[in-house]
This record gives sequence, C-alpha cells and structure tokens, in this order.
Amino acid sequence: MSNVRFLTGITTSGTPHLGNYVGSIRPAVRASLRTDVQSFYFLADYHALIKVDDPARIQRSTLEIAASWLACGLEPERVVFYRQSDIPEIPELTWFLTCVLGKGVLNRAHAYKAAVDKNNAAGLDADADVNVGLFMYPVLMGADILMFNAHKVPVGRDQVQHLEMARDMAHSFNHRYGEHFVPPDVVIEDNVATLPGLDGRKMSKSYDNTIPLFASRSQLQKLIAGIVTDSKLPGEAKSTEGSALFQIYQAFAGETETTAMREAYANGIGWGEAKQRVFERIDQEIAPLRQRYQALMDNPAQIEATLQAGATKARAIATPFMARLRHAVGLRDLARQDGPTQRGSVKVSLPVFKQYREKDSLFYFKLMSAQGMLLLQSEGFSSPKDCAAAMTRLQQSSSAAKLALNGDSHLAEGATPQAVQDALQSLARARTEQS
Ligand code: TRP
Repeated sequence: MSNVRFLTGITTSGTPHLGNYVGSIRPAVRASLRTDVQSFYFLADYHALIKVDDPARIQRSTLEIAASWLACGLEPERVVFYRQSDIPEIPELTWFLTCVLGKGVLNRAHAYKAAVDKNNAAGLDADADVNVGLFMYPVLMGADILMFNAHKVPVGRDQVQHLEMARDMAHSFNHRYGEHFVPPDVVIEDNVATLPGLDGRKMSKSYDNTIPLFASRSQLQKLIAGIVTDSKLPGEAKSTEGSALFQIYQAFAGETETTAMREAYANGIGWGEAKQRVFERIDQEIAPLRQRYQALMDNPAQIEATLQAGATKARAIATPFMARLRHAVGLRDLARQDGPTQRGSVKVSLPVFKQYREKDSLFYFKLMSAQGMLLLQSEGFSSPKDCAAAMTRLQQSSSAAKLALNGDSHLAEGATPQAVQDALQSLARARTEQS
C-alpha cells in the first residue's frame, strides 16, 4: 500500500439524503476500495456540537450516518473509520494549532464572516449569537487533518478556505518547531453530481427539499411523485434540460438507460409514468442497501464496536504522534533535560532542489518540499551554468519569495511563499548543522 493518505469528515448533524449519497457517500465508498491509497473516514461529532444542542439528535445522527456508510459498502477493515470524539488527541492538537494561527485568519473565515455580516445588517452586535465554536471551526478541522498527516482531502468547494487554513497551520507549526506536518492538498470533487431536490433547487437540508436515503419503498415513491415538473400533458414532448426528475434519474442510471429516458421525454412520456420509472430505478440500487441499513440500525452495539475498533487504529497513529508534538513544543518530562529546541532531533527528510533538462533542450530547476510536493518551478535557462547560478541566488536570498517571483522561477500551484521560505530555511539549517 502506498503512503498517500486521503481523509474526510462527515458532520453528524442530520439524516443522510439522496444528495449526500450521490455527492459524497457513493464516490467515497468507491474510492475507499482503491488499494493504492490509505483512507480515513470519520464522524465529525465535535463539529456537530457547534450547530446542534440536542443531545438525542447528535446521538441519532451519529448512528444513522455510521450505519449509512457501512450499509453503502464502506469496509471498516480496509479503511480507518472512527468517531472524532473517540480521539482525545484531536482537541489537544486543536489547542496547539490555536497557538500558531493568527486570529485575523479566523476573522476572515467565510462562515464566521457571514454570521457577522448578517448581524451587522440587522443592526445587532457583530458577534451576536456567534459561539466560539463557530469561530474555531477551521482550527478543529485543521487538527482533524494534520493529526493523521493526510495528503489529500476530498471536499466540496465551500471547504477550500478551510484547507488553506490547515496548510497555513501546518506551515506555521513546522516553521516554529521543525517539520512535523504535511501541508494537505485539497481535492475538489467537481465531477460528482450535485442532486436537485424536490423543488428543483440543490438538494439540501436547509431548503427542506430532501429525499432521505433510506426512506421506505412507499415513502420513496411518494416523495418522487412530489418532484416538481412543468404542466405538459402526456403525449407532449418534454425537455430534459432543467428537469430535476431527469437529473435525478441520470445520477442512478447507466448510459443506455439515460438515452432511453431522453427519448421517452422527446416522445411525450407522461410525468406520472416517468416518475414511476425513476422510482423503480432508484429503488433497484437502494433496496439492498436499505436492508443492510435496517439490520445495522437494529444492532447499534455492533456499530459502536466497529467505531471502537476504528478508534484503536486511529489512536495507534495519533497517540505516538501527539507525544512527539508535545515534546516538540516543550511539554516534556522534567527529569530529562534536552536543552534548547531540538529542531534537528527528529529525523526528517529535507526539501530538495532538482536540476534537469526538458525536451525543449532548456535547463530547469525545481524545489520540492520534504514531503515531495512541488513548491517552485524555474523558467528555462539556455545553459546549465545560468540555471545553477539562479538556483544559488535563490538559496542565498534573504527574501526568497520575492526573488522567486521576479522572473527566475514561479510558485507551483497550491504552494505558498511561506512554504518556499520554510523549505529554504530548513535547507540552510541543515547546511549549518553539517558544517
Ligand atoms: N467541514 C466539513 C463539512 O462540513 C466536515 C469536516 C470536519 C471535515 N473535519 C473535516 C472534512 C476534515 C474534511 C476533513 O463538510
């Protein structure tokens, strides 16, 4: 198995609906079957506390979401599947990260800013009804990710800023205490479908237009019958464009079935009949999962045991890593004096410069982080000597970021000037330690 780690959290504040299934559960379960990555899935119940103060609902939602993922085929032996609140190292790491992140960064977080803007518009105190949990949300999420040094985090577009903040925290911590964290990369899931809801808008709990993933067969049929359509009569040609019913069908049907449905629309299939077909197609996929779901829901002790086993796996990583981090920041055994910060005491790989020649016969260099991420890419040089000279200039510059951006080279996508600076510093440090 390779060392590439994927990690995703699911907030336990609701009941999974078809939109969650198509947009997140189904693709994630498929991805978890890959043998070339290691996957971490967890129930973000600490995050749920920010929005939900009904204990019974938290418990219920945690059970439903765990049962849904397992019913949909997540294999807990293949992945690390756990509940956030079973890992006490996560809140501990949250505090460490709190102490290296600028407050201004959190002031600019979208969710927090939206709450403040709303309050301002209503003439209220800017922070009225905002709990500190909401403000701290990105730090807790950063701890979720950095705790397991996840390389890739598949999320929706709305979470991109949180990933940027996680990278920021990783860099700030590494900068102070040595290379401990991998700055995570965001994986935007643009090609997974967003499902329309009953009213045609995106299916979402906040629009109250959802179809629960495990509605009973008869409930499912009734809900599908309620999907909005236009008022065309049977026999009249119908447009698939903008048809919520068609889009929902497409998310479940194969190519041939979709083509057949498109023809049926053109040939004037009645809405009643179309809805019946959509219902049968969805039920065909969901029915076996629904059965497994019921069996799981009837046996919560088994789910609890599965999560406990997951927590054991997760803590086998988190506990020793946290011990290393505690030591790094100076929370140490007083009987053992290690002297000043031992930045070099932990054996870590170093960033590297690589020089090479491309097909265009020009000479290039690039800077890779210790974790193998591309940070900086040079322009082409006609001679290897010029290329090497530019590389040396960069290494000797006090403001590498500025120099990097003035023509010799440019930042790689997703890399920050801070990351370049950090990499150059750790190289410089390694050189002084050697000499
Ligand atoms: N914020 C994510 C959401 O609302 C849930 C989440 C919590 C998460 N911690 C995470 C996602 C860590 C990815 C990684 O969807």
